[in-house]
Amino acid sequence: MAAISTLFLFFIIFLVSLLIILALIVRPRSVKIPIKSRHVFITGGSSGIGLALAHRAVAEGARVSILARSTEKLDEARRSIQLATCVGVATFSADVRDFDAVSKAVDESGPIDVLIVNQGVFIGKELEKQSHEEVKFMIDVNLVGSFNVIMAALPAMKAREGRGPASISLVSSQAGQAGIYGYTAYSASKFGLQGLAQALQQEVISDDIHVTLLFPPDTDTPGYEEEQKKRPELTSIIAASSGSMKTKEVAKICLDGIKAGKFTVTCHYIGFLLSIASAGMSPQGSFWVAFIEVMFGGLTRLVSLVVQSQWYKTIEKWSTTKKGIRS
Ligand SMILES: NC(=O)c1ccc[n+]([C@@H]2O[C@H](COP(=O)([O-])OP(=O)(O)OC[C@H]3O[C@@H](n4cnc5c(N)ncnc54)[C@H](OP(=O)(O)O)[C@@H]3O)[C@@H](O)[C@H]2O)c1
Repeated sequence: MAAISTLFLFFIIFLVSLLIILALIVRPRSVKIPIKSRHVFITGGSSGIGLALAHRAVAEGARVSILARSTEKLDEARRSIQLATCVGVATFSADVRDFDAVSKAVDESGPIDVLIVNQGVFIGKELEKQSHEEVKFMIDVNLVGSFNVIMAALPAMKAREGRGPASISLVSSQAGQAGIYGYTAYSASKFGLQGLAQALQQEVISDDIHVTLLFPPDTDTPGYEEEQKKRPELTSIIAASSGSMKTKEVAKICLDGIKAGKFTVTCHYIGFLLSIASAGMSPQGSFWVAFIEVMFGGLTRLVSLVVQSQWYKTIEKWSTTKKGIRS
């Protein structure tokens, strides 16, 4: 009995020491990013998650600019925000693949406090069925386009003085945390954002700029509805295990995460488990989350192995059935 009590005491001392050590070492420190009366610039802000983020930011008192290609969709977005909040937003028509056009829009919009790089395209297909143009399109819009937006906004964001902490947030995807069948190009474009974000955070932390990576699950946006009609059956089966969410809920969680200055923002428990399993060298500002990562890293790896095993079983079963039908 005495031995058990001593062991328990050592365990408690270990946990408390670990918490203290983590509280001392986690970097970069979490900061609050104010939204009210600040300039929030959202790419892909005319539809889906971007539009819902624009609605929320306006409702919370921010001055909002949105950028996308279609002027019709931008006008419609402006009208819907005006109708809901009685506040106007600035709209900019540009393709993120065109650096000069993006730079012009960013310059015209004025100094940015919170940059949300949200534009994205997804065409779910097995790689052997995908054209080179489709692969290039996704990499160009999702990854190179994100570089274009950040590189256009960064000089003025770094030069801002006395405006408080700033944020550069990138909308990734759960397909940017785990490779998913049918998403070779899309996953690659979103995994790329992880490297961009980690390195960028080190480069801009001394300018009080905080990088956030957002990982939404399937979300009921116009883009998702379109993509769902054409995505491979297996992609739908595998993605179904994570469930889908409403655009408004996702936008709220994302904006709250940005305001809390978190590096990683996930939208539900599966995304959270994935974030722990794939934490690697990601910065972590919260010692509580760092504690969970340290304590349960092995366990989440086990969960991820179980999930992978289910996915491969589904693929094996599906291909056996297909082969059976063909022969
Ligand atoms: N919906 C989901 O299930 C889901 C899940 C995880 C992650 N995500 C990510 O969340 C982000 C938003 O997705 P969503 O579902 O809200 O998409 P969406 O409804 O299709 O909206 C996409 C937005 O991006 C703009 N856009 C697309 N290509 C562009 C380009 N080349 N230059 C400038 N703007 C461009 C679109 O406007 P124009 O077409 O007029 O340019 C639109 O405003 C994307 O990064 C996506 O990868 C979505």
